[in-house]
Amino acid sequence: MKNNCVIKFSGVLLAFFVYGNAEVQANVEQSLKVSDYAEKGYLTFDNKPLGSLNRPLVLRTFVPTLELSKESVLSNHSSGSTSPKYSPSSGKESDNKNYQPIDGIPAAIAVNLGKTLSYVWDTTECRLLYAWTDGFLDMLNYWGDRASGRRKGFGYVPRLYGFVFYKAVGKHPLKIDGVSVSELGTPKYNGYSIGEDRLPVYDYRIGKHNLSLKINSGPSAQTLKLDFSSKDNEKLEFSSPNTQVEIKNKNSGKLSIIIRPNAGERFSTDEPKEVIKKPSREIGERLYTSLGCIACHSLDGGKNHGPTLKGSYGSKREFLKASPMVIDEAYIRESIEKPMAKTVKGYLTGMMPPYKLQEAEYNSLILFIKSVR
Ligand code: HEC
Repeated sequence: MKNNCVIKFSGVLLAFFVYGNAEVQANVEQSLKVSDYAEKGYLTFDNKPLGSLNRPLVLRTFVPTLELSKESVLSNHSSGSTSPKYSPSSGKESDNKNYQPIDGIPAAIAVNLGKTLSYVWDTTECRLLYAWTDGFLDMLNYWGDRASGRRKGFGYVPRLYGFVFYKAVGKHPLKIDGVSVSELGTPKYNGYSIGEDRLPVYDYRIGKHNLSLKINSGPSAQTLKLDFSSKDNEKLEFSSPNTQVEIKNKNSGKLSIIIRPNAGERFSTDEPKEVIKKPSREIGERLYTSLGCIACHSLDGGKNHGPTLKGSYGSKREFLKASPMVIDEAYIRESIEKPMAKTVKGYLTGMMPPYKLQEAEYNSLILFIKSVR
């Protein structure tokens, strides 16, 4: 049962696996053991191979809400309420014991494209909800382990592993012929197809408009490429608060954009391997790449989306609103944790995502930045 496409436990159909290609066989020898996944930091669920860029793993499942706004981002989801516990033996409902609603997003589509990108597309809102690197979903609570074939508990919502770099903000980001999707009605998901490049393409309908979306990794670390198209060649626009968008192609009925990171939060740090005991410059240097700082900050003096880190420590800064100061450790720390606190003159406010990290990670980044002379 190594390449089964349908996973069945206790006679209940729980989820589907679909690979972007039918010949899954070819990759089986590359599939890793559970222990390998854990060691490499991308254990997800049981011992299924993860996806890759040209062989995405597509999974329909509950996903964590990650504190996405219920009012704006998840506005078409109904919110659950408690229901009384029911006893099959007595046939009665309990007066004082309740089931809590499941704190998760149902019927989402989670896709893994290997270590560099996982994302969740929601079939209710018909939009991208979030994206992350370095892991996928741990389905153990949901599916149980292979040995017993039983669920571990009643955790329907899988745990997310990895570093979340993008989260949806605000109302549906798409405008069709100048009208926002949120005014056009409730989106209706039609299903997905697998394109020639093996990536899923989501088809959905909003009012009378038929749209499709392909999601791919972007040109640099922690960026996303979104290709929208509409059947009737409507004009498509994308805008979302707190999200930097670069338009790649804009034609009637077509819109291709690159999205930059707007979040920075690691999940499931309960894994002992991820806890850093002592901060160091070397760890900071690794984080600079793995957290995606590299996409916006150069080390050689070159100007990018953000200021270069070369020689920054100890030099003077001017800000849009705050009074000028010399860069010290506290300022670097604040810049990483709360980049909105001060905006360096000549740069955009809100472009840099806030990073929620371990104490030792902030300190390692500070050590690294201080060392870039
Ligand atoms: C999407 C682009 C982007 C990413 C990713 C990014 N930054 Fe920034 N960063 C900026 C911008 C733009 C500024 C300047 C505007 C401001 O002050 O908010 C900035 C400012 C800073 C500053 C203050 C620099 C100075 O010279 O005054 C530090 C320190 C910093 N970032 C560190 C980091 C670290 C560490 C990471 C990764 C954990 C990171 N940044 C990721 C865009 C980014």
